[in-house]
Amino acid sequence: MSKPALAPLKGQDFLTLEGLSPSGLQSLVELAHQMKTQRQLWSIGAPLKGKTLAMIFDKPSTRTRVSFEVGMAQLGGHALNLQREELQMGRGESVEDTAKVLSRYVDAILIRTFSQELVEELATHAEIPVINGLTDLYHPCQILADLLTLWEVKGTLSGLKLTYVGDGNNVLHSLMHGAALAGIHLHISTPPGYEPLPEVWKQAEEMAALTGGSLHFSHDPFVAVQGADAVYTDVWASMGQEEEKEKRLRDFQGYQVNETLMALAKEDAVFLHCLPAYRDWEVSPGVIDGPRSVVFDQAENRLHAQKALLMALLGE
Ligand code: CP
Ligand code: NVA
Repeated sequence: MSKPALAPLKGQDFLTLEGLSPSGLQSLVELAHQMKTQRQLWSIGAPLKGKTLAMIFDKPSTRTRVSFEVGMAQLGGHALNLQREELQMGRGESVEDTAKVLSRYVDAILIRTFSQELVEELATHAEIPVINGLTDLYHPCQILADLLTLWEVKGTLSGLKLTYVGDGNNVLHSLMHGAALAGIHLHISTPPGYEPLPEVWKQAEEMAALTGGSLHFSHDPFVAVQGADAVYTDVWASMGQEEEKEKRLRDFQGYQVNETLMALAKEDAVFLHCLPAYRDWEVSPGVIDGPRSVVFDQAENRLHAQKALLMALLGE
């Protein structure tokens, strides 16, 4: 078994997929697949024995928290679950001091919070790798699992047509980076006013130029989904946007991924969602619980993708 080349990631931060090379991303996806299919082999010798991951959560989490905690345990290491409001940081200790102190105790920090700038500040002052477990801007860990899932079901990534319908949010921003790096043709459809950020579009276009991938946009989801190999959606109101829920429910009418929309995709098209999902809002029950849905494979793949990332950042 040949090991994917992960050396450039060792000791690095993982704050966004921007900056990763196409081969670096491919290596992570390949390693995740190896760790999934040859789990016993990768548990031998507990490769992360003695290593500790501190996980700071400022927002709720099921998949991110559990996949990193279980992943560390399966690799022989340990994870600490820290709610921000229980830390001194929650009552005013600086991000800088928190980063410096945690660097004396643990080997890496995962953080889920609102502001990408806060995560960058933490990374600037930490002497150990910092992992972005979701901000309002990005969700890079999710996309590793999504690409692994697509690769497993389609046998390739390069050249696929992937359509994202819904909100131009954190998941879409990281998906734009990841799809571009993987050579995917990403078609995006959002309601007016909910488009992805232009600077992320520009970054993704530059990345796609390296791989033959491409980005396309239409406000009409029926145009965007034509002939797609996979259709992806996410919630209409992300964590922190609870007060906008009613307005968003109105604004997103016509953007639900349902049987009518899926009928325009390829016959073997799969449905993706990072979860948690709101049935009858962004997706119909018939699609998310139907035969084309791979959402629970995606959720499982968070574990394998996170283990690959931990090995790349912390492994010998
Ligand atoms: N998809 C995802 O990040 O799920 P959690 O919010 O449960 O971590
Ligand atoms: N866009 C969603 C993703 C949840 C995993 C949110 O930020 O709430």
